[in-house]
Amino acid sequence: MNILAIETSCDETALALIEASGGLPAGRQGLRSPKFKIIENVVSSQISVHRPWGGVVPNLAKREHLKNLPIIFKKLLGKIEASSIDILAVTVGPGLEPALWTGVEFVKEIHKKYFPKAKLIGANHLEGHLYSFLLSQSKITHYSLPTTNLFPAIALVVSGGHTILLKMDSLTKWKKLGETRDDAVGEAFDKAAKMLELPYPGGPEIQKLAEDGNPDAIPFPRPMMHTKDYNFSFSGLKTSVLYYLRDNPKARKSDVAASFQKAAIDVLTHKTSRAVQEYRAKSIFLSGGVAANSALRESLKNLSEKLKMGFFVPPITFNTDNAVMIAVAGYINYLRKKNRRITAQANLSL
Ligand code: KG4
Ligand code: ZN
Repeated sequence: MNILAIETSCDETALALIEASGGLPAGRQGLRSPKFKIIENVVSSQISVHRPWGGVVPNLAKREHLKNLPIIFKKLLGKIEASSIDILAVTVGPGLEPALWTGVEFVKEIHKKYFPKAKLIGANHLEGHLYSFLLSQSKITHYSLPTTNLFPAIALVVSGGHTILLKMDSLTKWKKLGETRDDAVGEAFDKAAKMLELPYPGGPEIQKLAEDGNPDAIPFPRPMMHTKDYNFSFSGLKTSVLYYLRDNPKARKSDVAASFQKAAIDVLTHKTSRAVQEYRAKSIFLSGGVAANSALRESLKNLSEKLKMGFFVPPITFNTDNAVMIAVAGYINYLRKKNRRITAQANLSL
């Protein structure tokens, strides 16, 4: 199966072409796990456009997607046989509505014009992140992960818009255990970065600055760390950074960054650890933009080693927004025969 995928939910215009094979283990499609070969993976970032505004401006994102989509697509089209495309996958949500529409309209247009025989599949952006664990092991360009002995698994999806903890019983069956009640963890990184006068997006900047700081310098709160549920809250932590900087204008910024990062990671690790033990999970999956954070990856890797279980996180390029993960989610939806409406659904959830 050749899959062409489009992702425009936020500030990356991304297109990818992958070759997918294998099926859903345990019955329906035999016992083969899905396998992916990445043929093209293009991500055009709009960071420099949004940076002066300190965050993503939806209408600027829309303008940039409209400008970039035909350019990237044309380059891709020059390299492929249009008749070889079996599936067109597009992100339908969640995300910024004007940005989502650009991908949805574009995919409909190219479907009609170039790939009339291909199947059009709407993908959930969060399923894209969730399924990116399938891209965590590769042999050169082939990604495959035997999915027979992974479940139950605990999956942590951490991005700019979401912080979700799930229990997965199979590739297609999961239950949401909890999520953030206010800010997503990526949003907290971005806001704390702004307070430290760092540019957007703040996550990578905080990580960089934290490398020179002492993570135990400032005892920032760990909101909801010990509550019995699996929900999160990060807005109080963000406000603590604001008050700390107001009261300590001469504070070492690297110490603030390192202490903030440690507080956020402690909460994520603690709740993941509790879920893993409660549900006797065999593996931990980590995904989403914040999964690019090396201290978070390290913390969950240590946890998995301590508990003697699997830990699966994709390479950094598949943590932040990309279209390969949308192609993967599109393929799984195809196997499940799940049809979504091809229309922008800004508030779609997992
Ligand atoms: O998944 P993603 O690219 O977009 C959304 O779906 O939201 O996630 C973007 C978020 C931003 O908040 C960004 O600051 C954060 O991921 N991020 C990081 C790192 N790289 C990206 N946060 C912490 N450390 C990083 N290295
Ligand atoms: Zn994302």
